[in-house]
Amino acid sequence: MNSVIPTTTVNKSKSLEQNRYRVVRVDSDEAARTNPTLQQVILQASKVTKAYKRHNMKVDVLKGVDFQAEEGKITAIVGQSGSGKSTLLHLLGTLDRPDSGEIYFNQQRIDNVSNRQRDQFRNTKLGMIFQFYHLLPELTLLENILAPALIGHGIWGYWSKRSAIVERAKELARTVGLDHRLHHKPNQLSGGEMQRTAIARALIASPTLLLADEPTGNLDQETGTSILNILRNLNEQHGLTIVMVTHDESIAGQCDALVRLKGGRVEKLK
Ligand SMILES: Nc1ncnc2c1ncn2[C@@H]1O[C@H](COP(=O)(O)OP(=O)(O)O)[C@@H](O)[C@H]1O
Ligand SMILES: [Mg+2]
Repeated sequence: MNSVIPTTTVNKSKSLEQNRYRVVRVDSDEAARTNPTLQQVILQASKVTKAYKRHNMKVDVLKGVDFQAEEGKITAIVGQSGSGKSTLLHLLGTLDRPDSGEIYFNQQRIDNVSNRQRDQFRNTKLGMIFQFYHLLPELTLLENILAPALIGHGIWGYWSKRSAIVERAKELARTVGLDHRLHHKPNQLSGGEMQRTAIARALIASPTLLLADEPTGNLDQETGTSILNILRNLNEQHGLTIVMVTHDESIAGQCDALVRLKGGRVEKLK
């Protein structure tokens, strides 16, 4: 299990903080032993609720969502427009907080942590891609891929590691088949190329988890399939865990696991 929970025995003379950590660790190890499926769960939502206010009316969107994504798999989330798919994905990615319930990454709470811990999770473990790519129009493809590294490392950290980071960005551009487009700006790229750039950008910090909100929603069938193939390659060759919201039934059918969001709850289809 690629877990933050260590397995070595803790020296009894260590600090209270470490001993408290030990209690969590033993409980988790015990739970993993007695429930083999738990060993593979990388992302989990438990009894999650979320409501929005609209015209002074409360709209309950998520009404107790239980969701699990297993490590190394591609999990698809389907559901009608407005069923709360993006809302759930945003909560899983710590872009927003649930009203109640809990969210765990590698068995550690991520929904109620400090802003610093949340930023660290986002900067090191998580990549996100969206239907409309969200590239910065003034930057070239290469600069767009590099942007999160600049933010994540800070300007001095970035400059000290610049050549390694640029090399990684170029390698990612190669992985998504865009190494011949490094100095083009987004308005010189097709939709599929923009999404491939967004995938490379999401992977610059080598995250373990990619959350994708309708990544093929704005693309034709053939381009959408090519994006899915890239995601599948990243999953198979680099062990990237992917949770993907999609409208496209043929794409959903090709994923390893499939859930539907309906009536504010999640039902497992596959
Ligand atoms: N920030 C918000 N403020 C108010 N209502 C919202 C907000 N975000 C989403 N909603 C509402 O929540 C419901 C679910 O939205 P969303 O999660 O975007 O659905 P989906 O992604 O499945 O289409 C919709 O009715 C939407 O209008
Ligand atoms: Mg949506």
